[in-house]
Parts: sequence; structure tokens; C-alpha cells
Amino acid sequence: MRLAVCSSKGGVGKTTTAANVAVALGRRGRVLAVDVDPQESLGRAFGVVAKGRYDSLAALLEDPTEEPRAIIRHDVAPGLDLLPAHPMLETVAVHLTTTGGLTTSVRRALKPLLSDYDHIVLDTRGDLTGLTLAAVCAVDSVLTVFTSDPGSALGVARVAAFLEQHRAYENTSAVLAGVACAAWDPHGRAAREVLGALEGTDLPLMRTRIPLSRRVPTSTLAKLPVVLSTPTSSVAIAYLALADELLSAAERVAA
Ligand SMILES: Nc1ncnc2c1ncn2[C@@H]1O[C@H](COP(=O)(O)OP(=O)(O)O)[C@@H](O)[C@H]1O
Ligand SMILES: [Mg+2]
Repeated sequence: MRLAVCSSKGGVGKTTTAANVAVALGRRGRVLAVDVDPQESLGRAFGVVAKGRYDSLAALLEDPTEEPRAIIRHDVAPGLDLLPAHPMLETVAVHLTTTGGLTTSVRRALKPLLSDYDHIVLDTRGDLTGLTLAAVCAVDSVLTVFTSDPGSALGVARVAAFLEQHRAYENTSAVLAGVACAAWDPHGRAAREVLGALEGTDLPLMRTRIPLSRRVPTSTLAKLPVVLSTPTSSVAIAYLALADELLSAAERVAA
């Protein structure tokens, strides 16, 4: 599976989800996690920070002759390699927007690596602009997440429309494989309302809900995703279940 975690805004749990789903998939095969957000949060979730653009995804997008395997950080977790971002990714993206090539840049950079991995997980920044489209162009499946924020359901609909639009404009093949709640608060009315709104649509709502948990911010501080730091916690178990649910969904889509 090649999966991008996308949303129309930030702070909804994308990076946490990308990191934990990537670790969970690492139990099922070889995984590459790719940070396509110039804020480089996915790397930070594992304590990995690029020193400059030269040892990050930015270098691969900027210079097609760069060797990706020299930049990848190997075995940051069991079964998991990581390609970090760097703030200069923003500058490189702006440059590629003017010269052309941004949309296909991530797909082109990852192409030589596809046979090395069973699964690739991309984290994106919280918008639906050029770099996110470049990530979408490199995958077959997209996961979008929502929280109890009342605007969340609208955000999910925006991602679905974005994918639809670019299947037509850019000939992308990525489909919305899943819509998941990344911070489920069973006592919160807002969360139930968002869920209710999404249940009334034909969007692929995941059965697995990631519980709201203090372990998540604690694990960010510890630079270890919860699936690694506290694998028996309810939030880690939910992420393991979400990864399996996504694999089944992606297989159904491919069939
Ligand atoms: N299940 C959860 N329970 C509690 N806090 C969470 C949960 N998921 C994410 N968070 C917190 O929400 C904030 C935003 O999460 P993050 O994954 O960085 O979102 P995004 O990548 O969409 O900006 C972070 O402070 C993170 O620790
Ligand atoms: Mg993020």
C-alpha cells in the first residue's frame, strides 16, 4: 500500500496517525515513512531531524540525480525506514511550481524505492495545495482524519472533492481509502455530531476510532510514537487495528 495522510487543515492528528500507522505496518512488512511537510513533524515524531536540505526529501525533489537510499534513515523503528523533510522543502516546492514538475516530484523521487518496501506512508501538511497534491500523486490510497472540531466533517468532504478533482485534472489514481477519527472523545457531543454527519455520507468511514489520550502528547515529547512506547495502551491497539483496516480497504480498492 502507498498511503498519504491528508487533511484540509493542520492540528487534526495527521502526523500522529502517519507515524503510528507506519510503525504498525512495520509489523506486517518493510515500510518507508516519508515526510512531505516542511514543518518536518513526522521525523520529529521519531527524533529524526535533517541537518540541511541535502539530507532530506527536499534534495530529492530539487535534484533528480540524488540517490534516495543515501538520504533515507534506516531502521528508525522495527521494519521502518524514514525519509525526513526539512523547512527548505517549502522553497524547493515554490521553485518547482514556477519551473514545473512539482506535482510529479514526489512520485518521481520515490519510484526507485518502490521495490524496496511493502508499504509507503506519507505525511502531508494541513492543506490541499501543491506539495500535498505531489504526495497524492505518489500514492494509491489516501487516509484523512477528523477530530471533534465542528468543521471536521467539512474538511473530510474537501479532501474527497480534492481527490476527485485531481483524478480528472492530473490523472492521479489515489482513492480515499479511509476517513478516521484521530481523537475520539466518547463523552464529547461535538465528536458524536461530526461522526453522525459523516455516517450519513458514502465516505469510507473507518470502524476504528483512535481514542483521545494523554499518551499521545507524552509520546511526542519522548520522540516515540505510542505504538512503540506503549504498545499495549488502548490508543496503540487502536492504531494497530486502523493499520489493518486500511490494508483491507486498500486491497478491496485494488481488487
Ligand atoms: N489521539 C490523540 N489524543 C490526544 N492528543 C492527540 C491525539 N492525536 C493527536 N493529538 C495531539 O494533537 C496535536 C496535533 O496532532 P498532529 O498529529 O501533530 O496533527 P497534524 O499533523 O494534523 O497537524 C498534537 O499536539 C498531538 O499530540
Ligand atoms: Mg502534521
